[in-house]
Parts: sequence; C-alpha cells; structure tokens
Amino acid sequence: MMWKKSFLVFLFSLSIQNAVLDDDRTKKTDECPSPRLSSQTTVVTKGQNVSLICSIEKKSQTIMYYFYQGDKYLRTKDNGESNIFNLRISEARDLGPYKCKVQDSISSVYRCSKYSPDFNFTLLDPVATPVLNISVIQTEAGLYITLRCISPNGSLPINYTFFEKNAAISPAISKDVRQPAEFNFTKKSTQGDEEYRCEAKNRLLNNAKYSQYSPIPLTDGDGCALCLQLLPVGLLLVLKVIALIPACWILPKYKARKAMRDNVPEDYGHTPMEVGEYESMYKNQAGEDLTAFPSSPPMSTSG
Ligand SMILES: *[C@@H]1O[C@H](CO)[C@@H](O)[C@H](O)[C@H]1NC(C)=O
Ligand SMILES: *[C@@H]1O[C@H](CO)[C@@H](O)[C@H](O)[C@H]1NC(C)=O
Ligand SMILES: *[C@@H]1O[C@H](CO)[C@@H](O)[C@H](O)[C@H]1NC(C)=O
Ligand SMILES: *[C@@H]1O[C@H](CO)[C@@H](O)[C@H](O)[C@H]1NC(C)=O
Ligand SMILES: *[C@@H]1O[C@H](CO)[C@@H](O)[C@H](O)[C@H]1NC(C)=O
Ligand SMILES: *[C@@H]1O[C@H](CO)[C@@H](O)[C@H](O)[C@H]1NC(C)=O
Repeated sequence: MMWKKSFLVFLFSLSIQNAVLDDDRTKKTDECPSPRLSSQTTVVTKGQNVSLICSIEKKSQTIMYYFYQGDKYLRTKDNGESNIFNLRISEARDLGPYKCKVQDSISSVYRCSKYSPDFNFTLLDPVATPVLNISVIQTEAGLYITLRCISPNGSLPINYTFFEKNAAISPAISKDVRQPAEFNFTKKSTQGDEEYRCEAKNRLLNNAKYSQYSPIPLTDGDGCALCLQLLPVGLLLVLKVIALIPACWILPKYKARKAMRDNVPEDYGHTPMEVGEYESMYKNQAGEDLTAFPSSPPMSTSG
C-alpha cells in the first residue's frame, strides 16, 4: 500500500513540474516575439504609393515601431507609435529590403527588441493596352474564328481573357512569353453585330487593360470568309434576276399582243365573218351555245 501512495505522489509532482515548464516556455516565447512586416501588395510599379505595416500579436499604447531600409533608420512622417509607414516607389532601390522593430520600454510585454524578417517589393511593369487580331476561316461547321491578343508591354506572366460584347468566352490564358494568347471557336452563324475584345492583366492590382472592340472581319488571308457565307444569298439573288429576265422580256410582248386583241370588239356579232366561221364549226360538232366557250371547244357529246 505504501509504495502505491508514493508512486502516485511521484506522478503528481511530475505532472506539476511539466505544467510549470510548459508555462515557462510559453512565457519565454511571448516575451519577445518578432514583429511581422507586410504590405497590401508585394508587387508594385514605378510611382506607386504603398504602406508598410508592422504588426505584433499583443498591442499596447506604449509600443514604439521603428522602420528600417537595410540598416538605415527611416524617419516617418507618422508619429512613432504608428505601425504604418507610407512610401512611394520611385526607383529600384525603393524596393527594399525593409524591416521593422518594436520596443516597449514601459510595459513588460516587449522588454527586448526584435527585428521583423526582411520584406522586399517586386517591381513590375504595368500591361499596355492589348491589341486584338481576329481571323476567320469558313468551314462546313460554320465560321472558325481565331482570336489573338497581345500586350506590347507589361511584366510577364500576363493573363489574357477574350470577350464577346461583355461576356467572357475564354478562360484566363496565362502567357509567360511575349507571344499572343490564342483562342479558337466555331460560330454556326453570324448576326454581323458581334464585337470582340480582350483583357490583359498581370500580377499588379487593378491594372487590367482592354483592347478596342473589333467586329468579325469581312476578309482575311484565306479569302473572303463572309463572302462564302453570303454565297447562298448571292446565288438566290442571281437566280431571281435570271427568273425575272424572261418575264421582263416577254411581258411587254404579251401586253402588246393583248392590247391588239383588246382592240378587237368583244361582241362576236360585229365581225360576221369570224362568227360565221366559229358558228359553223361548233354547230357542226356539237350544236351548243358558242358564246359560253369562246376559246376552247366544248367536250364532245357525240353519244
Ligand atoms: C502618391 O503620394 C504622393 C504624395 O505622397 C502624391 O503626390 C501622389 O499623387 C500619389 N500617387 C498616387 C498614384 O496615388
Ligand atoms: C531582398 O532583396 C535583397 C536585395 O535585393 C536581397 O539581398 C534579399 O535576399 C531579399 N530578401 C528577401 C526576403 O527576399
Ligand atoms: C512600352 O514601354 C516602353 C519603355 O518602357 C515605352 O517607351 C513604350 O512607349 C511602351 N509602349 C506602349 C505601347 O505602352
Ligand atoms: C493578324 O494576324 C495575321 C496572321 O497571324 C497577321 O498576318 C496580321 O498582320 C495580324 N494583324 C495585326 C493587326 O496584328
Ligand atoms: C487555333 O487555330 C489555329 C489555326 O487552325 C491553330 O494553328 C492553333 O493551334 C489553334 N490554337 C489553339 C489554342 O487551339
Ligand atoms: C492567371 O491565370 C491563372 C490560371 O490560368 C491563375 O491561376 C492566376 O491566378 C491568374 N493570375 C492573375 C494575375 O490573374
């Protein structure tokens, strides 16, 4: 019984010891943590204003923040308590490396002072307005359209997206070489009012650029694609004209003839010769009323 008790006591004291050690360890790490230096963006372009933010977990009113570029202390227009440092990127040497330090001489939280890890900006060229190039090939399935888009300037990689009117028709196509992004699609038919444009953007924030809107071109290197599409319509037109030629040619003749005939009085009685001829003919055949069938002979009723 005795040994059991002492064993329990031993275990108990061991666990207390561990707890104290754990507490010590957390206290030690809390005592002097490194601050963290960050910015809204790590990629910048020349002329951009940015802010460096020095942050720690436990804030206090009496903490002082110090900013450095390399080993050089940066004076700040902000008061010493601010954890934000504003700067303007005008040349390559404004990119860094930056670091910051926190110090608290009054509170016991930050008795020591520690530097943050280095922070560098990356300089990027903004994309220039991209140029869209459209080519069209007529195929059995419809118009085979190739859209090409390239931005002459701007740091790579550049993401390109193609739009019809305002709707994206392609995924983002990422190019890490300065070559046009390409997107192919087939269109069964065209209303003729389609407009396309492309968007180019790189990692710089809020820096997307758009090409001009372009319609589907009427011609391209491979011939006149739209002409081909319009061919059936053209053929129909030609056929109509062909159909109209005889009508135009024959109608006047027909009219002239009709006019001549119209001059002949309708009353057969006025031309006894003619009437006499008809009369004798039809009377001989059927003996029916002539006037009812002036131009076609009556059916034979010989029976
Ligand atoms: C950047 O800040 C400076 C003054 O600090 C101001 O003159 C300039 O217009 C700002 N530039 C941009 C792009 O906001
Ligand atoms: C920051 O840039 C400097 C000089 O360009 C370089 O020596 C350093 O390694 C960079 N640090 C980081 C964290 O990228
Ligand atoms: C491209 O960049 C060069 C130099 O940075 C500049 O001279 C040129 O005007 C730019 N071109 C366009 C289309 O923005
Ligand atoms: C469009 O692309 C075609 C074929 O690649 C090329 O011949 C033509 O010069 C390009 N046009 C423009 C304006 O880039
Ligand atoms: C688009 O079509 C052209 C011409 O047929 C072809 O050369 C090119 O590889 C196609 N591009 C893509 C991304 O499918
Ligand atoms: C570019 O597109 C790729 C996917 O194609 C995507 O993962 C990446 O985040 C895009 N980058 C930008 C800056 O939009």
